[in-house]
Amino acid sequence: MFLKLFLASVLAASVFGQDDPNWYKTATYYQVYPRSLKDTNGDGIGDLKGITQSIPFMKSLGVDCIWLSPIYKSPMKDFGYDIADFYSIDPIFGTWEDFEELLATIKAAGLRLLMDLIPNHTSNEHEWFIKSVQGQQPYADYYVWKPSKGIDANGSQIPPNNWLSAFAGSAWEWREERQMFYLHQFTVEQPDLDYRSPLVLAEMQNVFRFWLQKGVDGFRIDAPAHIWEHEDFLDEPPSNDPNCPAPDQFCALNHTYVKDQEQVYDILYAFRTVVDEFEASTGEIKVLMSEASGELDLTMRYYGNETHNIIHFPFNFYLIWEISNATDARGVEAAIRHWLDAMPVGRTANYVLGNHDNGRLASRVGADFAMTNQMIAFLLPGAMISYMGEEINMENTFITWAQTQDPQGCNAGPDLYQRFSRDPQRTPFQWDDSNFAGFTNGSNTWLPVNENYLQVNVAAQQAALYSPLKIYQRLAEARKSAAVKNGSFDLRVVNDDVIAFTRVLTGEINFLVVANTAYEARTVNVDATFFPLLPIKATVFTASVDSPIQQGDSVFTSVIDLAPRGGVVLTF
Ligand code: NOJ
Repeated sequence: MFLKLFLASVLAASVFGQDDPNWYKTATYYQVYPRSLKDTNGDGIGDLKGITQSIPFMKSLGVDCIWLSPIYKSPMKDFGYDIADFYSIDPIFGTWEDFEELLATIKAAGLRLLMDLIPNHTSNEHEWFIKSVQGQQPYADYYVWKPSKGIDANGSQIPPNNWLSAFAGSAWEWREERQMFYLHQFTVEQPDLDYRSPLVLAEMQNVFRFWLQKGVDGFRIDAPAHIWEHEDFLDEPPSNDPNCPAPDQFCALNHTYVKDQEQVYDILYAFRTVVDEFEASTGEIKVLMSEASGELDLTMRYYGNETHNIIHFPFNFYLIWEISNATDARGVEAAIRHWLDAMPVGRTANYVLGNHDNGRLASRVGADFAMTNQMIAFLLPGAMISYMGEEINMENTFITWAQTQDPQGCNAGPDLYQRFSRDPQRTPFQWDDSNFAGFTNGSNTWLPVNENYLQVNVAAQQAALYSPLKIYQRLAEARKSAAVKNGSFDLRVVNDDVIAFTRVLTGEINFLVVANTAYEARTVNVDATFFPLLPIKATVFTASVDSPIQQGDSVFTSVIDLAPRGGVVLTF
């Protein structure tokens, strides 16, 4: 009933810029990890109906676009990143009707939907792989097959080279039936597709077409750097990385041959042409975002060049990599400038603070600085990508070895799993203080609920006067303003501890963000820093929960009080 009323009301209202050709450039993207948002059938695993029920909540957050981690048919060896059929929904999540209802609810709310697409590999239960193992045409060459290098002293087949899986151990697996090894850069159950076969590319382009025709607004492309391997299949050199804990871990080698090959960009461009063709025939603006590889110059190439647009924006992980470690204002400045200075002119910047592969923001930087990071990321120019739970400052959950589910954790073994497992950031969403944090009415959950759910939950934060959730909502609101969408951007180091920036558009409400990296309170005068731009007084738009100044307060820009690791957003 509530959902129907909600749908009727948002339909009646004018919806968020459906026809805006620039919608993706400044949108807030909200990543949903489907297993963990809301379970409606009591099996302890989140489902599509649960996501549909949560759309009013997402609308209330002020986000614009949902990125859905994979929901396709899958044996779930990598929790959906091992797809057995690109054209069907896994029953664990629901049915086609459930998907259609979700999409309709998203559209009716004026939101958008991006699917996660995994072109590098499939599940070993995919029909293509089953036929490929049997050598059936045309599937024989759909995957990367290589002969053995001989038999070792134990009578085992010797793999073609030393390549390692991103989840530890050899990247090669022997199949008796085919008398060859196949390549898997992730789990054994995720064989790599071979894009040397034009048929594979054509198949994947059809997958893109199918989902575009279903009405989705674009895709997040998984692991693009791994799509192509060097044709000589030579051993990779050792990395000699002193922080790499074991010789069978991915970090033990320099990945000169399995990642970032020149052909990667051609394959991605072939995906982009499908999106462009669709846009040309429908007038609808669709978007491609992608994971990014480590090297900045290689990542920038995903944007394309003057003649070829490729990815609308590859993920900018610099806020994760660098703000997390920043202990002073210059560290934060560097984390921000890294991307902006390298980005080709006219492209869309973006900021990622967390996702299902990285430890939770609040655990990495502390709850206070987490919201300060949000203030920074939400007000910077470009797109913003949020991971569900960041709005309430969810933290990593301790998972025992026996509870470990993530293949990256399992493969690392009991001594190392805590370093590699991604389970801590994937635990059930914390809705309220009822059983299992309101995630399920069932009697168990696929990963344990964080013990802090009694304090850290949506209901409690909605009821509080000041809370991370309230800050998040204000920030998402600010993002829709003209100054944040199109205004100038001026970033300054105020002193060793404090960084500040403005977003200004003449005639509009303007913003000043001031962030304190120090573990003690600070009071700053930013007048000289931005002279002569700022007015004498500004109004607090939102501030850290424990800030001495709060929403609606009027402050002199010469005396801005900041909580330890806190931030404040002022309007003028
Ligand atoms: C990146 C995804 O984000 C991760 O979760 C997955 O395990 C790998 N790619 C393999 O698909």
